[in-house]
Amino acid sequence: MTIPVFFSSSPIHDREGKVQGYIYVAQDLTERKLLEDQLLQAQKLASLGRFVAGLSHEINASLIVILRYAQQILESGTDGGIRQKTEIVAKRAEHSHKIIQDLLTFVRPRQKRGEILNPCDLVDEMLEVLNPDVEKFKIKIERDYPDVPSKIDGDEDLLREVFMNLMVNAFQALESNKGERRFKVTASVEGQKMRLSFADNGPGIDKKDQSKIFEPFFTTKEVGVGTGLGLSLTYGIMKQHEGAIQVESELGQGTVFHLDFPRVPNELKSDLRTAEKA
Ligand SMILES: Nc1ncnc2c1ncn2[C@@H]1O[C@H](COP(=O)(O)OP(=O)(O)OP(=O)(O)O)[C@@H](O)[C@H]1O
Ligand SMILES: [Mg+2]
Repeated sequence: MTIPVFFSSSPIHDREGKVQGYIYVAQDLTERKLLEDQLLQAQKLASLGRFVAGLSHEINASLIVILRYAQQILESGTDGGIRQKTEIVAKRAEHSHKIIQDLLTFVRPRQKRGEILNPCDLVDEMLEVLNPDVEKFKIKIERDYPDVPSKIDGDEDLLREVFMNLMVNAFQALESNKGERRFKVTASVEGQKMRLSFADNGPGIDKKDQSKIFEPFFTTKEVGVGTGLGLSLTYGIMKQHEGAIQVESELGQGTVFHLDFPRVPNELKSDLRTAEKA
């Protein structure tokens, strides 16, 4: 192991001024080096942020034009081959728009806006939004929520993004299942923690990949299907909520993602109910 040090020496003189010895001082610079590296990393990320923000503005402007014209062609009642091709153009444009939005959120995370909410309501809402996929891939949805709903301090939009990412990942994984496709959301309360678990019986995640899935740009999907930003954004949002995310997975068995949120204490909830009634 090498340790970066700042080395200095100074002579020790006797009364006549003759050198009797030296004092050597080695100052450990590990901490300073670490801080310098972190600063450099932050500066690089900041300039990448400015670059992505500028670029995405340009690309989004073009994508909006492409989407608008594609929609006009579809609305004009065109059918046959042209319709099919235009649908593909619209789908690809929408997909690219999503990637740009993810990149933007990654380089410029939005501040969390807190409000007291029941996350199960948002899970239900996102399942409703993704219902076309649920029906298309014939996925059996199960929900197990406690009778007494628990509240957390959360940001609705950021949490929608979290639930959407986990559901889209699970549904994409389930696509490869030949047999029954199942997806289950469980909510539970453990002391001051509220846990939401998202389980699928898809192909599972290889042990060696489990430590990488939260890294930005890690993907096992084909180019054009995944960018590898979903889980890294999800991880960041969970941190903003002072929560945590964990994965449990076994190849061939399926995958469970656990989200842990700090619960809003009961006294605060009763205040909220009074405020809601007023
Ligand atoms: N439920 C799941 N079952 C199996 N593998 C999963 C599941 N969820 C995530 N993964 C694995 O984790 C990887 C990273 O997921 P992440 O959501 O960050 O990126 P992505 O889905 O590949 O792309 P993006 O979300 O940006 O469209 C995926 O490529 C996949 O290999
Ligand atoms: Mg994803």
